[in-house]
Amino acid sequence: MTKVTLSKGTTTFPMPAAVISVGVGGDANLITLAYVGKVCLNPPIIAIGINTKRHSFKLIEEHDEFVINYPNIDQLKEMDYCGTRSGRDVNKWEQLGLTKEKGKVVQVPLVKEFPWNMECKVVNRLELGSHVCFFGEVVAVHCDKKYLKNDSIDPDKLDTFAYISGNYVELKTGALGSHGFSFK
Ligand SMILES: Cc1cc2nc3c(=O)[nH]c(=O)nc-3n(C[C@H](O)[C@H](O)[C@H](O)COP(=O)(O)O)c2cc1C
Repeated sequence: MTKVTLSKGTTTFPMPAAVISVGVGGDANLITLAYVGKVCLNPPIIAIGINTKRHSFKLIEEHDEFVINYPNIDQLKEMDYCGTRSGRDVNKWEQLGLTKEKGKVVQVPLVKEFPWNMECKVVNRLELGSHVCFFGEVVAVHCDKKYLKNDSIDPDKLDTFAYISGNYVELKTGALGSHGFSFK
């Protein structure tokens, strides 16, 4: 094996590409983020990293809430659109024909057409440099019934993708084993 030293900016593997809703009412906006990850089990906390230059940055600071919306593979283009246009210039909801759905707990709207949504309330923030890390406590989760088995998300049923080195990659191999299979 010959290992090559890479840039310190190399990302973790794989990353999600999720569309985050921020802001409320007519100001509500959508931003694609790859910096999204669960960092605590109890309470359930998800950390997201937003560059301070983004239009969405101002909106999350104003309302202290966000919703993570995971698209399916047919919604890849909508996800890329939300990550390449600014809400300063376009209304992404209108341009993409997406519907604002009322959340169970938060005021920020969910993307109705996206199958998996996680409502979060900001409980902490950390200024890191180019990006501020917001820690959101998950207060409600919704998922299309067709992806579930025994009320849990079934990886074999998900038709989703990951973000790896600037590319969108389909995740189609399904589950290789369950947590703890190495005990058997
Ligand atoms: C796949 C993908 C992942 C992205 N991940 C992030 C991220 O984690 N953090 C961030 O600040 N911007 C990220 N961006 C860039 C923003 O989504 C982009 O600048 C967007 O246009 C900002 O929208 P806004 O100005 O309406 O807030 C990503 C873009 C793409 C396409």
